[in-house]
Amino acid sequence: MTADEAPAPASAEPILLVDDEKNIRRTLRMVLESEGHVVHEAGSAADAFTVLGANPVDLILLDVKLGDDNGIEVLRQLKARGEDGTGAAWAEVPVVMISGHATIEDAVAATRLGAFDFMEKPLDRNRVVVTVRNALERRRMWREVNQLRRAVDARWELLGGTSVMADLRRQIVKVAPTRSRVLITGQSGTGKELIARAIHRNSSVSSGPFVKVNCAAIPPELIESELFGHERGAFTGAVAKKRGLFEVADGGTIFLDEIGDMALPAQAKVLRVLQTGEFTRVGGEKSLRTDSRVVAATNRDLEEMVKTGSFREDLFFRLNVVPIRSPDLSERAEDVPLLVESFIAECCEENGFARKPIDDDVVDKLKTYDWPGNVRELRNVVERLVIMSDEVIRERDLPPYLGGPRAGGGVGRSTGPVSTFDLGRYAQKSLREFREEIEAEFIRMKLAELGWNISRTAQALGIERTNLHKKLRALGIHRGEDDKSEPG
Ligand SMILES: Nc1ncnc2c1ncn2[C@@H]1O[C@H](COP(=O)(O)OP(=O)(O)OP(=O)(O)O)[C@@H](O)[C@H]1O
Ligand SMILES: [Mg+2]
Repeated sequence: MTADEAPAPASAEPILLVDDEKNIRRTLRMVLESEGHVVHEAGSAADAFTVLGANPVDLILLDVKLGDDNGIEVLRQLKARGEDGTGAAWAEVPVVMISGHATIEDAVAATRLGAFDFMEKPLDRNRVVVTVRNALERRRMWREVNQLRRAVDARWELLGGTSVMADLRRQIVKVAPTRSRVLITGQSGTGKELIARAIHRNSSVSSGPFVKVNCAAIPPELIESELFGHERGAFTGAVAKKRGLFEVADGGTIFLDEIGDMALPAQAKVLRVLQTGEFTRVGGEKSLRTDSRVVAATNRDLEEMVKTGSFREDLFFRLNVVPIRSPDLSERAEDVPLLVESFIAECCEENGFARKPIDDDVVDKLKTYDWPGNVRELRNVVERLVIMSDEVIRERDLPPYLGGPRAGGGVGRSTGPVSTFDLGRYAQKSLREFREEIEAEFIRMKLAELGWNISRTAQALGIERTNLHKKLRALGIHRGEDDKSEPG
């Protein structure tokens, strides 16, 4: 074989020439080397695969008539082969076919198989240079797209090996390819958005956009224009025409997140789109059509809201065609170790740390906690453990409420019960309940930090001792109330 063993600088974009005619290889090599490429040569199909097995290449120039071998057949094999030793998939390397007297059938077959381009002999220097540049440009683009896609997919992957999760995955796979509307319910932080994205990925509109609408975050006076768009001059500030999210999601999925937080007037507007597939821009007259898959999610009890009149019953029935419940983390505690490992890996990578080991005792403690903030809370806790621990994550790195050591004598490390502030947890509470719970958590944290020294805690909180005593009584905070997890 005639493989060139010169080490390729990363930027040289090595190219493989496959042709049984030595003269053609020599001419092409000269042209390509003058363009700064590292060139490998092969005179037969077998040679070509040997070279590919040993060298990463970014482009293949492939003769259709390879002596006894058939270039089209080589192309077929390239597109079918899996990963090579360097981790680059051969199927993703662009192939330019070269031919002396190509038939139309050859050209058609090559295009079907995914050849990037076709060049006729005799080869014209300029044509070769331009074709090679274009093919390499495509290669760079593919690579970038694939990297991004892999990163994005990993970011939105639903992790979990328990039967609860297997069951959830089965539901997703079943409903995703259909056009049915899906209503995802479940506590805050359980992964409702990940479920919505998984449905989109597995749907027939996966190549279309995934448009998330956070219904809770859009002020009621703006929601109509956000969802349906507006014409220029529709209201003060509408300086230009704007497309709404239903329009943007056309041909894809629109994810109506926190739908339970949408005000009644907006609910009526959304109902109309769901009934007719039609809507009008604010200030517009034309009726526009949208064809998007609708997936909604909420952590509120919509049925209860229907009863009390704060959610439209007709909209509820339109949305709740296929209900999917996102399980609490406490229902799948066996998944905690897997999630912990994955979050540690992610966090270490993000921060450029070597992968940190974690003691089994710590994982056990994390498994027994009941995770009111679900996976989001777990993720935040793990992130904090990764950042705050030394080489290994140990039990002493845990805050007391997770079974870590209680700080004594006031010289404790700063460990608090509230590592996550998750407003969604309080969605059903009154302002007073919210205030009291947060206040109680905060006071517990300070007490733990200062070893239950009342004077110092009062001082740290900036209130009088007597006032603190009053608060402890009112909020039902007693020393030792949460010591049950500790032995003895
Ligand atoms: N099964 C899971 N595997 C991996 N990560 C998960 C899983 N479930 C949730 N997460 C992570 O937990 C966090 C919260 O998930 P997500 O935003 O989907 O929750 P949610 O149910 O939509 O919460 P909310 O009701 O507060 O909007 C995200 O960082 C997400 O990546
Ligand atoms: Mg969400």
